[in-house]
Amino acid sequence: MESVALQTGISSLNGSISVPGDKSISHRSVMFGALSEGETTISNFLPGADCLSTISCFKQLGVDISQDGPTVRISGKGFHGLQQPDGVLDVGNSGTTIRLLMGILAGQEFEASLAGDSSIAKRPMTRVVHPLREMGAEIDGKNGGEFTPLKIKGGTLKPISYELPVASAQVKSAILLAGLQAEGATTIVEPARTRDHTEKMIESFGGKIERQGNTITVKGKQALRATHINVPGDISSAAFFMVAAAITPDSEVKLLNVGLNETRTGIIDVMKQMGADITVDVLTTEGEPAGNITVRTSKLTGTEISGDIIPRLIDELPIIALLATAAEGQTVIRDAAELKVKETNRIDTVVHELTKLGANIEGTDDGMIITGKTKLHGGTVSSHGDHRIGMMLSIAGLVAEGEIELENPSAIDVSYPEFFEHLSILTQS
Ligand code: S3P
Repeated sequence: MESVALQTGISSLNGSISVPGDKSISHRSVMFGALSEGETTISNFLPGADCLSTISCFKQLGVDISQDGPTVRISGKGFHGLQQPDGVLDVGNSGTTIRLLMGILAGQEFEASLAGDSSIAKRPMTRVVHPLREMGAEIDGKNGGEFTPLKIKGGTLKPISYELPVASAQVKSAILLAGLQAEGATTIVEPARTRDHTEKMIESFGGKIERQGNTITVKGKQALRATHINVPGDISSAAFFMVAAAITPDSEVKLLNVGLNETRTGIIDVMKQMGADITVDVLTTEGEPAGNITVRTSKLTGTEISGDIIPRLIDELPIIALLATAAEGQTVIRDAAELKVKETNRIDTVVHELTKLGANIEGTDDGMIITGKTKLHGGTVSSHGDHRIGMMLSIAGLVAEGEIELENPSAIDVSYPEFFEHLSILTQS
C-alpha cells in the first residue's frame, strides 16, 4: 500500500495560499453549462478527481467540453440535446456527480447506467431514487435501487411537493434539476438550510427560483442561457489550513479568495466560538460571496456543535475534531449522523485514526465527544480512501511529536491535488 511520511512537529506556519476552486460549485458549473444554450466558460474550476468525473460523464452524454487545468469551456446542449451514453457512466468517488446526474437523467428519454468506486457502492441512493420515482423516472439498481450500480430511464416528469427527510443539498439539487424539466412548479422543504449553490447557479444561468424560509420553488421548462462562472476558493479546503494555523505555534496564514456563502461558513462561526484569532476581509458579495481569511495561533476552548449549524459545516467536522484536540475542555458534536454516510463513515474513521495519535475522542450515535487538550504522538494512520480524512491527518502531523506514516494519501486528489505543495509552502516560509 502506497504511503508517505508526514511532516511532524512543525514550529510555525506562515504565508498566503489560494486554495483551489470550490468543489460543489465546480460540479454545478459543468452541469448547468451542459444544460444551457450557448458556450459557458469557467475559471478557477477545481481540477480534482471528483469534478473530472463530472466532466467525463457529460462528455459521455455527448457534450463538447474542453478543460485545461482550472479553465473549462462547454458547448451547451440545452435540456433536450443530451445523448444516450455508450457505456456505464463512471462517477468515481463522487456523491455529488451521481446524485445530481440522477436528477438530470430523470428528465431524459433514454436509459443510462451509473456506477462508481467501492465507497460510492456503500452510499445510500434511496434518498434521490424515491423523489425521482415520484416524479415519474424509472429507476432500478442494487437492492431495488438502494445502492449502485443504478439504471435510470427518464421521460416526462410531473412536479412534486417534497419534504426532505434529511438535510441534503445533493438531494435538494437532484430534485431541482428534475423540477427544471417537469411541467409546472416543484416545491421542496428543507429540514435545515443546506448549501444553496444550485439555486444561485440557476439564477446565474438566467433562470428563476424562489425561496421563502426553508421552502424552495422552481418552475419547469425554463430555458437556461450560457454564462461565465468564476469559481471562488473552496472553504472546505481552506478549513484544513485555517485549523492548522490556529493549532500550530507562532503561525499566521492567509487564505485568499475563499467562498463565503453563508450556507458554508459554519467553520468560521465555530472557530470564533472556540476563541480562534480569525479575520475575514470580504472581497465580493455578488452571486457567490468571497474574501480573504487570516488565522493566527489561538488559545482555544471546547464547545458544543449541534442543530441547524451542522449542514453549514458538515464536511469540516473531521478537521473540527482535530481542532478540538487542541482546545481546553470538552467539545461535543451532535445531530451529525450524516457523517456515517459520507466517503467513509466519518465518525468511525475520525475516532479510529485520531485515537491512534493519542487523542481523547469518543464516537456517539450522531457525533463525537473530544476532550482536550492532548499532545498528539506518532503512528501509522490511513486516509481509508477518504480525501478529508487524509488531509485532516496530515494537519494532525504538524502538531504531533514523532513519526507519522499516512497510508493512501492519493485519496486527497479527489478535492485538493495541490494539498501537499501548499502545505510545504506554509511550513517553509
Ligand atoms: C454536497 C453536499 C453535501 C456535502 C458534499 C457536497 C454538494 O452532501 O457533504 O461534500 O455538493 O451538494 P449531502 O447533500 O449528502 O449532505
